[in-house]
Amino acid sequence: MANKEILNQEFLKSIESQYIFDNAPINRFRKNKENVGTDKKLIDLKDKIKSIEDCELKKFSKNIVFGDGNPKSRIMLVGEGPGEKEDMEGKPFVGDAGVLLNKMLNAIKIKRENIYITNVVNYRPPNNRKPEISEINRYSIFLREHISIINPKILILMGSTAMEALFGQKLKISKERGKWKEIIISQKTFMTFLTFHPAYLLRQPDQKKFSWEDLKNIRKKIDELKIKI
Ligand code: URA
Repeated sequence: MANKEILNQEFLKSIESQYIFDNAPINRFRKNKENVGTDKKLIDLKDKIKSIEDCELKKFSKNIVFGDGNPKSRIMLVGEGPGEKEDMEGKPFVGDAGVLLNKMLNAIKIKRENIYITNVVNYRPPNNRKPEISEINRYSIFLREHISIINPKILILMGSTAMEALFGQKLKISKERGKWKEIIISQKTFMTFLTFHPAYLLRQPDQKKFSWEDLKNIRKKIDELKIKI
């Protein structure tokens, strides 16, 4: 290539000519602005949950357990609710179920910090009881908002509470696990996968074989969709 031609190309690169021939205005800060939007929306949602009143879960818990991981991740995972350790640390899945969850994710080459994790209820139910239907319904409004903000390509629901929060009480997790389903939230369709909760697997280790099938299914979808994690 002639010297003059190389110089011309260097010059065009340096003036970002693609913008000159584009009608849209240059917005060099777009990426940052989007992130600020997400962070602000998450803070606002957390504040909204903190201001909840007359909630037995909140009354007896030490901390709000809001979310953990990468809010920009294309993969979002939803559990049931915080246990004792989660309540103490204010972070989801840090107890025994969390240890198993980390192993399950590692088995399909996912680092927990690269996905986003939350629960249906954000305060620990007394004595780790399952949240009541009224509580699931109350918090599912926040969960839906949480999902809209994170905007994942894949939404993984672990256990019956997470399934009930989005699909109602009619379904049985033992029948629905291993299935991809669509859910519409604020006019957007999310691809959702149902699987067993790690705490259930700790109680019923013979069910781990089904969970392994589910994990492989999730990995396959991630690869098919070319999701970067
Ligand atoms: N079980 C859950 O569903 N969530 C947690 O954060 C911990 C245990």
